[in-house]
Amino acid sequence: MNVKLWTIISLLFMSLFVFNSCSEKDDNFSIWIGGSPEEVDFWEKVINDFNAKYDCNLILVRQPTYTDQRKQSLIISLEGKQQNPDLFLMDVVWINQFIQSDWLEPLDDFAVKSKFKTEPFFKRVLNLVDKYDDNLFALPVFMDVALLYYRTDLIVQPPETWEQLKELSLRIQEEQRKTNKSFDGFVWQGAQYEGLVCSFLEFIASNGGSILQNDSVKINSKENIAALQFMQDLIHKYKVSPENTYTEMKEEEVRREFQKGNALFERNWTYAWQLHNSNDSNVKGKVGMTILPHFKGHNSVSTLGGWHIGMSKYSDNKEKAWQFIKYVTSYEVQKQMVLTIGWNPGRKDVYEDKELKKKLSQLNLLEYVFDNTIARPTVPYYTQISEVIQRNVNNCLANKIPPVEALKEIEIEMKNIIKIYGEK
Ligand code: GLC
Repeated sequence: MNVKLWTIISLLFMSLFVFNSCSEKDDNFSIWIGGSPEEVDFWEKVINDFNAKYDCNLILVRQPTYTDQRKQSLIISLEGKQQNPDLFLMDVVWINQFIQSDWLEPLDDFAVKSKFKTEPFFKRVLNLVDKYDDNLFALPVFMDVALLYYRTDLIVQPPETWEQLKELSLRIQEEQRKTNKSFDGFVWQGAQYEGLVCSFLEFIASNGGSILQNDSVKINSKENIAALQFMQDLIHKYKVSPENTYTEMKEEEVRREFQKGNALFERNWTYAWQLHNSNDSNVKGKVGMTILPHFKGHNSVSTLGGWHIGMSKYSDNKEKAWQFIKYVTSYEVQKQMVLTIGWNPGRKDVYEDKELKKKLSQLNLLEYVFDNTIARPTVPYYTQISEVIQRNVNNCLANKIPPVEALKEIEIEMKNIIKIYGEK
């Protein structure tokens, strides 16, 4: 065989090896993902494309819609050291616990071997969430921020303050209820689950409040009391948010209510935008999107949410799993994601894409929101803290306890948790 032919054959062989890692083994491997049905449908497509491109057999296992249940099912599998799932998406608030529980495979060696660069990602997010002790354990797939959706056919100018939101809600709700008894001013996430923690943080932070001050717990403050009082009043005093806010309202319940045409304002994550403007939406073409309101004299704030991909320590298919991580965080797939489902890419460089900037006017809005986010504490015992906030804030929304009692209780319980789980 002459040298030239031999070189061509070797190159062909090498390219097969590099681009087709799945051909090494025929086994299936799996990824667990939940979310709204439309979101999971989108994942199905991403995974089919990946399988076709790389001749792989990655199986999508559908998880429940909400973050708390998704975490529960994953923990059962990981605690049992099961090989299934190989891959999963993690809510930004679980990652620290997953790392500390030693459930995640570090990605550094895979990255080095395949010359994968982390520079295009948001450095602050990687350092805060995905890295630990200088090792990389996860990568952001999409970043969530909360926005205010409103009906452009019912109001001209969206509110800047919570007070204005209340006033507009009262006025438009009264008019609309003449023909639609189910109409409410403002729908938001108030049920007892993780989403309530996000709403609560936004209300208090947009009044200058917080849960930690100089690293120590400070919850029972006048800013927090006023903000929580306002949340309770939206339901019970002004009655612009429905009674089921504290029993049922989670992302999908809120989105569906607004999408049916039954609300003037909605607090939701970015995913709702495309769905509100889909063909089967009653509010298609009548929706505006802007930053959340703030209390007078303060700034609008959004909780930082989002979903990151990680690989199980117990996976038997780590090379293939890495192939998918690379695929899903690639520029092309991330761009596709924002175009088809409206998620904010986990990569920073995609936000600079000229075509996207032209097509998606909201990218400018998002830039502001990203600069004004509040992160939930990145500690392994976050679940315990979240549970305390969820339970007490929800009790207050149900009118069982006044704001000051709820906040006092959160402060006491949070301090205990920190004592038990050993904060430095
Ligand atoms: C969204 C966010 C996530 C948050 C959850 C709360 O999925 O991305 O970070 O915890 O909503 O319901």
